[in-house]
Amino acid sequence: MQIEFKSKVALVTGAAGAIGKSIAKELKESGASVFITDLKHDAVQVVASELGCKGQSADVTSEKQVKAVVTKTLQEYGTIDILVNVAGIIDTTPVEDITEAAWDQMFAVNCKGTFFFTKYVVPVFKEKKKGKIINFSSKSGKTGSALMSHYCAAKGAIISFTQALAFELASFQINVNCLCPGITDNTGVWDTCSEGYIRDMNLPREDVVNKFTAKIPLGRLASVKDVTSVAVFLASEGSDYMTGQAINVTGGREMH
Ligand SMILES: NC(=O)c1ccc[n+]([C@@H]2O[C@H](COP(=O)([O-])OP(=O)(O)OC[C@H]3O[C@@H](n4cnc5c(N)ncnc54)[C@H](O)[C@@H]3O)[C@@H](O)[C@H]2O)c1
Repeated sequence: MQIEFKSKVALVTGAAGAIGKSIAKELKESGASVFITDLKHDAVQVVASELGCKGQSADVTSEKQVKAVVTKTLQEYGTIDILVNVAGIIDTTPVEDITEAAWDQMFAVNCKGTFFFTKYVVPVFKEKKKGKIINFSSKSGKTGSALMSHYCAAKGAIISFTQALAFELASFQINVNCLCPGITDNTGVWDTCSEGYIRDMNLPREDVVNKFTAKIPLGRLASVKDVTSVAVFLASEGSDYMTGQAINVTGGREMH
């Protein structure tokens, strides 16, 4: 199926990162006007110029900055049709060593940021009686992983938030779904996470990769493209009859 987004406007967060940038690129190449945002100011300028789209840096944990990004997107493109909440952080720490600040930041970036963008984009979608929201949970939001209880709790909350909004916004023809990727190679999250495992499990990188790959029925880690293609499908009309779903992209590692 050819996916096409001509005359659609997409707002993508976390777009200086591996998955966010790839989704922004794919949407742009499929005809959408794309507005990108990320915490990293310089990287936003570089990616925007590379993709030929507009962008503005912002901290997703700041309601004021999120509102400014949504306002700027509307000034630039006049509307928004697709919101992709990709920005996220991870950390590997034994539960007894997680500080209150680290717990709060985990929820602030992964959950509050998704809430803030949703809060300011939903009125636009309600007015149009149409819209697509794609959130980022994780396989770890369904079945928890050791040494990242704060990340797993935050990603579990994204699934509940997604389901609640699917009910709340269905009568406006607004689809709200989330992705639950497994370990995705060549990404910031896997870099941080694998470094943590190498340190905490005292294993070489190759053993860490083999240990996790052995649990995946399809026998390999996800690629950024594997995740991007499902996100782009959820942004397209092909997914119009799907809402409230938490889609696994895990090579079969997670089946529920
Ligand atoms: N990579 C994986 O293996 C994997 C697996 C499951 C879920 N995910 C989820 O997918 C999403 C993307 O992951 P990725 O690996 O591409 O991550 P990444 O680290 O490559 O990119 C994440 C981006 O979010 C941005 N960000 C962090 N804090 C921010 C803040 N306060 N305000 C604005 N932007 C902020 C970062 O600057 C970064 O560019 C995340 O939500 C992650 O939890 C990733």
